[in-house]
This record gives sequence, C-alpha cells and structure tokens, in this order.
Amino acid sequence: QESGARKFKQQHMDSNSRHLPNSNYCNKMMKKRKMTVDACKPVNTFVHESLTDVKAICNQRNIRCKNGQNNCHKSRSSMRVTDCRLTNGSRHPNCKYRTSPAKRQIIVACDKNRVPVHLDA
Ligand code: A3P
Repeated sequence: QESGARKFKQQHMDSNSRHLPNSNYCNKMMKKRKMTVDACKPVNTFVHESLTDVKAICNQRNIRCKNGQNNCHKSRSSMRVTDCRLTNGSRHPNCKYRTSPAKRQIIVACDKNRVPVHLDA
C-alpha cells in the first residue's frame, strides 16, 4: 500500500465509531493514531464513514486544494466527522484536545491511484 494512503487511513479514518464521541474521544484517538509523538498535531479530523464511501469522493470532479494543487474532490453528501483541536495551553507530551462532532461535506486530495492521501477541509 502506498504510504500516503496508509497515512490517510491512520490519521483520518474511524469508520466503526457508531455513537457520538464523548469529550475524551480526541485525547484518546490523537494519541492512538500517533499524532502526538513528536509534537501535538494542532488540528485533525476523523471521518466516520466507510472507506468505500470516502474513496468514492476521488471520483468527483477535481477542484483546487488549499496548496494550489488541483487533485482535490468534494463529497456530494454530508459526512459524519469529528474535529479535534488542540486546547490553549496544552503542552507536549500532554496533548489535550477539544472534541467537536459535525456533519458536513469534506474535501480530500487523491493520488494517481484515486485513493485519498490528504484531508483538505
Ligand atoms: P505530510 O504528511 O508529508 O506532512 P493531512 O494530515 O492534512 O491529511 O495531510 C497529509 C499529507 O498530504 C501531508 O503531507 C500534506 O502536506 C499532504 N498534502 C497536502 N495537500 C496535498 C495535495 N493537494 N495532494 C497531495 N498531498 C497533499
């Protein structure tokens, strides 16, 4: 498996969480998914939809990504997500996050194999 796709799944996919996350969700998940190792990753979103549905976003039309590349794609439907944002005053290695569930269309960047490698929005 190409490393960008593997990293995307590690950092952004949590398909099997069926209930609304509790307030500790991001504290646990950001650590478990290795985003607090060298530093606290400031912002990260987990997507609670099937990998099949998220991969299918790559078949939507290309749009411009925040970095100026044109390999981004927007989901047609709203997706269940959880936003994790580092709290003010949180210091590595004690990374503390605010957990915010949401439902919205997401934007992913896809590679040439048409698999997601980055969450743009
Ligand atoms: P690195 O992991 O090497 O820093 P994210 O965590 O935001 O999903 O990003 C995953 C990786 O995708 C990041 O690389 C990021 O720089 C990269 N990336 C950003 N925009 C991209 C794009 N349009 N196409 C492919 N990769 C992109």
